[in-house]
Amino acid sequence: MNLEISYGEFGVKPPVIKPIPEFLLEVTEEGIRELISKHYDAIKESDIMPLFPKNREEFEQAKVNSADFFIQICGGEAYFTKNRGAPRMVGRHAPFRIDAKARQIWLELYKPLLEELRESGVTETSLYSFWNYLNVFSIWMINIK
Ligand code: HEM
Repeated sequence: MNLEISYGEFGVKPPVIKPIPEFLLEVTEEGIRELISKHYDAIKESDIMPLFPKNREEFEQAKVNSADFFIQICGGEAYFTKNRGAPRMVGRHAPFRIDAKARQIWLELYKPLLEELRESGVTETSLYSFWNYLNVFSIWMINIK
């Protein structure tokens, strides 16, 4: 697959398209929880680790909150809204200093995980749809120059 990272900078908010329903159907809720868990574990070993909770329980809870969000945005149960309230993603990221480099690292860490899903039989159409969502919406989260 050719998972390209679009140029992104502070202040730019390109239109976002949610992942197609096939992504959740193919990957399943459990698969999304596993994907998010692996992404957070990869973050732990990366240069953006200082942005994330140091406490083990908080870190594990962050995985749950994030997976709740992604299941919801992919068309599944509204777990995030139920457990955390309105998504307000830009506002929720405001306390963290996220620059273009941090976004790039965050996205890079998804690439091998999406390759794994492809190898396990998830269609490229679904994976590209999910990737495009991450690629574009992550630009919104950049909050410093
Ligand atoms: C651009 C790179 C990004 C960085 C560096 C980043 C960083 C963070 C950090 C530090 C937190 C707080 C700790 C935590 O709860 O995990 C967080 C929370 C979260 N992030 Fe991100 N994030 C990024 C992009 C995104 C994107 C694109 C999404 C959604 C598509 C997203 C969804 C979430 C969710 C759902 C939470 C939990 C919020 C809550 O429960 O209050 N993040 N992120």
